[in-house]
Amino acid sequence: MKQIFTTLAIMLMSMALHAQNTSSVPVYLDEKQPIEARVNDALSRMTLEEKVKLCHAQGKFYSNGVPRLGIPGLWSSDGPHGVRFEMNWADWGHSGWEIDSCTAFPTLTCLAATWNEELAYAYGKGVGEEARYRNKNVMLGPGVNIYRTPLNGRNFEYMGEDPYLAATLVVPYIKGVQSNGVASCVKHYCVNNQETNRMGVNVEVSERALREIYLPAFRAAVQEAGVWALMGAYNKIRGQHACHNEYTLQKILKGEWGFDGVVMSDWDGTHNAKEAAFNGLDIEMGTSSRPDKGIFGRNFRFDESYLGNDFLKGLRDGTYPMELVNDKARRVLRLIFRTAMNRQGFGKMDFAAHSEVVKAIGSEGVVLLQNNPVAKSKTPLLPMDVSQYQKILIVGDNATRVLSHGGQSSELNPQHETSVLKAFQDRYGDKIIYAQGYAVAQAWGGQPQGGSNQSDNATQLREEAVEKAKQADIVIYVGGLNKESGQDCEGSDRRSMGLSFGQNELITALLNANPRIVFVMMSGNAMELPELKRMPAILHAWYLGSDAGDIVADIVSGKVCPSGKLPFSYPVKLEDNGAMSFGAESYPGVNGQQTYKEDILVGYRWHDTKGIPALFPFGYGLSYTTFKYGKPSISGRTVSVAVTNTGKVEGKEVVQLYVGDDQASVLRPTKELKHFKKISLKPGETKTVEFTIKDDDLKFYDEASRGWKLEPGSFTLYIGSSSTDIRGKVKLNV
Ligand code: BGC
Repeated sequence: MKQIFTTLAIMLMSMALHAQNTSSVPVYLDEKQPIEARVNDALSRMTLEEKVKLCHAQGKFYSNGVPRLGIPGLWSSDGPHGVRFEMNWADWGHSGWEIDSCTAFPTLTCLAATWNEELAYAYGKGVGEEARYRNKNVMLGPGVNIYRTPLNGRNFEYMGEDPYLAATLVVPYIKGVQSNGVASCVKHYCVNNQETNRMGVNVEVSERALREIYLPAFRAAVQEAGVWALMGAYNKIRGQHACHNEYTLQKILKGEWGFDGVVMSDWDGTHNAKEAAFNGLDIEMGTSSRPDKGIFGRNFRFDESYLGNDFLKGLRDGTYPMELVNDKARRVLRLIFRTAMNRQGFGKMDFAAHSEVVKAIGSEGVVLLQNNPVAKSKTPLLPMDVSQYQKILIVGDNATRVLSHGGQSSELNPQHETSVLKAFQDRYGDKIIYAQGYAVAQAWGGQPQGGSNQSDNATQLREEAVEKAKQADIVIYVGGLNKESGQDCEGSDRRSMGLSFGQNELITALLNANPRIVFVMMSGNAMELPELKRMPAILHAWYLGSDAGDIVADIVSGKVCPSGKLPFSYPVKLEDNGAMSFGAESYPGVNGQQTYKEDILVGYRWHDTKGIPALFPFGYGLSYTTFKYGKPSISGRTVSVAVTNTGKVEGKEVVQLYVGDDQASVLRPTKELKHFKKISLKPGETKTVEFTIKDDDLKFYDEASRGWKLEPGSFTLYIGSSSTDIRGKVKLNV
């Protein structure tokens, strides 16, 4: 009995103590309190100086917390494809740590080519787990700028040319990242569609193109994914820099869309103290000089940021109302509570599990562009039955290059990156021989530099590869672009749509020596392809990250049936692309001014509506099997179509639904993607796919009434395997 009383007394005492402790915890530290209550409580305890300190960086990738209150600051990191290595405090150098490696995920264009929302979630979740484990609070990505021209050096970081596809995939990606208590910082808002003159170019774009093409993925990130942060772009929009643009940030993002997160500037993207204060910027990052104050580079102190001392002074002297700093501080605190002070899990560096995600994305993202038989054979060259071959030649610099390096801010230090050569050697041992074939010049622009030594070397490399090709049973050519400047790389655009480093000549010489060639093309962009008619098999293999080699080997050998579909159109020639067809005023701009003259007709909308065929259209990709589509039917607003795998292997198909408005009071694209579904079918298996058409799928943005408009009448719903391979149509009257 005595024992029971003692136990009871101890229990009561500890309950009382606990209650006392809980009540003594300030509200902002009490995790049981709603975030808004914690934010308000923290704000009420802060001085003006502390609030201002939240609004600008204090290191290259660090922004302030409130040290006196024990509120941690925010660590951010690039980026979309994995957690970048540690950077120096105040410059762009690598800190030289040895514990900052990561999983390199396939680039975002590859994710877009999977057309698979589940994979987008797995991608975000994996990146977020590694970010959390590495104590990163804000991941600078994903990028959802629309693919407007094949020359943009950063297209590989984005999700293609179609707003619906990008909007559909960005949502699960962000949810995956943020499920770890790590913020996504969706970027670069907005109309940042080229690298040439990216800091200064002023984009004039119609309201309709802005709403229909360039904003939907950002809007989905905000309204559907609930993204916690967003990065302003470098360029100007209608005369004002994107990082402090009143219209896009204040009116649209925070006004119309109700964004409650933080607007971060791009690094060095802030140019004006007053605009930064008034126009919606919350954290100024990366400012490294103040030309207006004669402070440059090494002399720069972070407190000299536009949202630093200048902002403080303006608040003190009444230039800025206090509500401005309170709103910014509130948003930053909210982000800190959502991330750095959110203790839901601590992430993990599970390289084995994340490799599986990388392989799944890569396997579904690689696009089979061409697959023809060679000579008298009746069967296409791929998949390759390795047992038939004694000598397999692998040619190309990209067969051995670590492609997660380079590209600038999306560069990674991968824990492993298996090259194509290594993967084939591991599987097929002595059967594999290698020739480099071409050398990469490290020159700005990626063009080989002159000089006889270099051309001698190029000739020697080519001849060596050709000799080996003559001896080989089959050649796997691994070329394309790389992540050097002027190729697929931030900071500059490509100069042409062609291949560099003498690859055209090399490809011709190789084909003359051996017609059995599989071209594995690493690239984030559409390419001008030499010898298209003679090249039997082409795979668009993006940048596949940590397990690149295994992904390629699985597809080439037929272990995996390709199912990727292009997230952008391949024009036959550069001028066939809408943006490029209007000359310099449209791209890259003249004297810093640029007008998006193709307007809403971006990508396949241009090709279709203008009747300019694409070489490989949006949504296109071959398989090792074949799919037969039944006749689509419509009941009410629901369209159904049966799809059967009529080939010999299991495969995945992306069933695409496009909408066309039969008569409209404005120009509308012939058709626009509004739904898709990826399905897996065994040989002989049939599945029925259903899509329900919503009003939003039929609307256009009406500039006159400044709103979305549905015009009653007849619509054509196209069901296809690509934007041009339409297998059936139904009519819908509204
Ligand atoms: C890029 C951003 C990147 C930032 C930080 C900028 O130059 O445009 O995308 O997140 O640097 O590295």
